[in-house]
Amino acid sequence: SLAEKSGYPHFMLKEIFEQPIALESALVGRLKDGKPQIKEVQSLENFVKNQMKKVYVVACGTSYHAGLAAKYFVNRYSDIDFDIEVASEFRYMNPAIDSNTLVLAISQSGETIDTLEGVRLARKKGAYVLAISNVVGSTISRESDGVLYLNTGPEIGVAATKTYTAQIALLYTLAAQLIYWKGYKKEELDEIMRNIEKMPELFRIILDKTNGHLMELVKEYKNFKDMMYVGRVFGFPAALEGALKLKEISYINAIAYQAGELKHGPIALLDDNFPVFAIVPLGKLREKMISNIMEVKARGAKVIALTSKDDLQTKKICDDYIDVPSIFEPLIPLVVAPITQLFAYYIAVQKGLDPDKPRNLAKSVTVE
Ligand code: G6P
Repeated sequence: SLAEKSGYPHFMLKEIFEQPIALESALVGRLKDGKPQIKEVQSLENFVKNQMKKVYVVACGTSYHAGLAAKYFVNRYSDIDFDIEVASEFRYMNPAIDSNTLVLAISQSGETIDTLEGVRLARKKGAYVLAISNVVGSTISRESDGVLYLNTGPEIGVAATKTYTAQIALLYTLAAQLIYWKGYKKEELDEIMRNIEKMPELFRIILDKTNGHLMELVKEYKNFKDMMYVGRVFGFPAALEGALKLKEISYINAIAYQAGELKHGPIALLDDNFPVFAIVPLGKLREKMISNIMEVKARGAKVIALTSKDDLQTKKICDDYIDVPSIFEPLIPLVVAPITQLFAYYIAVQKGLDPDKPRNLAKSVTVE
């Protein structure tokens, strides 16, 4: 009913707009004055300080994309060994993990069978398994050595939204905690964590500023059959997740690439029927993205850029753009998410599809 949806036409839209609160809930008691304080898992600190040599993420779907963002984050601020694999592959591989490995099993539902089997394999190999889940008492939470709950409240829409951004905020906080426990000191990390703490407020601004614009913008893109999302480094998980949202609920063939890979194949696909969604960060990758956009434009493809307000150079060469208040690289997977979610949502709705009940998909996949 409309009441359950607090007046929103779909759970997905309600959950997109709940993200400021969801982020707050995921961070409360865990991040204060820019300092991580992950204390709730008793044995974790000792394990990390005295034993941990490697981190390994096992997850599926959207949760895998959150894990990928965490990989880039850990890599930016430390040289901690970090591996990641989708659970359906991991469980049939011979992963390099042992009793010195911290395995992060990321699963919103805590019931995904492949991730659960990954947890069982990791524990058999002696790893310390920490679950990141939204569902208290879920199977993956129970079978792990410890669990951090997202605390976002239930997510009903099949396509993950608020739990994805809560996962990233929590994983970044956990990553910062690991990095500090291991004795790394990075000034930029302190600053980033203060920014993460301000994410709920920033999300309110992003949702407020972009919603109306996106509702209009999709009219020009909803009839395309294909779409490509490109980004670099932190922009890559953001591109993967943007493309996944679009294919899940709008059935557009949305694919994602690291922008530097365009020239190794995917650029052959592009023409005026194949628009590109480009995530353009501030910093040294900006120039690179601009030259990628020029290559794409030369093939006649339309380009929507997600860029900073002052980036006039990028705006000038793109067909459309969406201003993002803070597009500092490590924050990209967070700040871009509500925009790509709304973009997918409005395309689905304007095509007459029900975003809460996409065909062929289930909220949690408990069969192989
Ligand atoms: C299903 C859902 C996705 C989700 C994935 C992993 O495919 O439709 O939205 O990302 O499972 O789910 P989990 O509960 O393990 O995070």
